[in-house]
Amino acid sequence: MKENWKGGNMLNPLPVVMVSCGDMENSNIVTVAWCGNVCTNPPILYISLRKSRYSYDMILKNKEFVVNLVTKDLAFKCDYAGVKSGKDVDKFEHLKLTKEESLYVKAPRILESPVNLECKLRDIIPLGSHDMFLADIVNVSVDKSLIDKNNRLKLEDANLITYSHGEYYSLGEYVGKFGYSVKKKN
Ligand SMILES: Cc1cc2nc3c(=O)[nH]c(=O)nc-3n(C[C@H](O)[C@H](O)[C@H](O)COP(=O)(O)O)c2cc1C
Repeated sequence: MKENWKGGNMLNPLPVVMVSCGDMENSNIVTVAWCGNVCTNPPILYISLRKSRYSYDMILKNKEFVVNLVTKDLAFKCDYAGVKSGKDVDKFEHLKLTKEESLYVKAPRILESPVNLECKLRDIIPLGSHDMFLADIVNVSVDKSLIDKNNRLKLEDANLITYSHGEYYSLGEYVGKFGYSVKKKN
């Protein structure tokens, strides 16, 4: 037996990311869970923001931002960046996070995050409570410790977290890989 509820944001689990914006002097970090990939080629992602976020106008102004993936070690700082506003606190300074110069955008990357996606704004789609920022991913930087000698990205070693129903989790057990359902057994 199932109960039926009215439509709501029950899609789970979700990525949770720290989005850095502004420039090297004047920057901010906002935590975002309403985000995702939307196109492989060209590589495009979205983040959805409320207009009330301090970051909203910063991104609107520079039309650039960086999506920083979140490890278990960064979870606490990620939560803080999602409850305190850049209006009131310099989150880079308070959280002792390091600004790293990006390659193609003015917004700094977060050095402590092992994977940074530099993004250039393509379009803003107003939807209601949130506006959707569609952006081209123009650069991906990856911590070298996550690349093995065969040049394979060992993302499974990054200890990335996920967000589900208001709670943060590390990833669980390995289940299988893409296409394993149809792979012939030797
Ligand atoms: C886990 C988590 C996910 C969040 N996801 C979003 C989101 O997708 N969009 C949004 O506008 N705010 C989201 N927030 C809230 C903002 O991060 C929060 O209001 C933040 O303080 C805004 O910072 P700013 O005013 O410096 O931009 C989230 C917060 C948390 C803790």
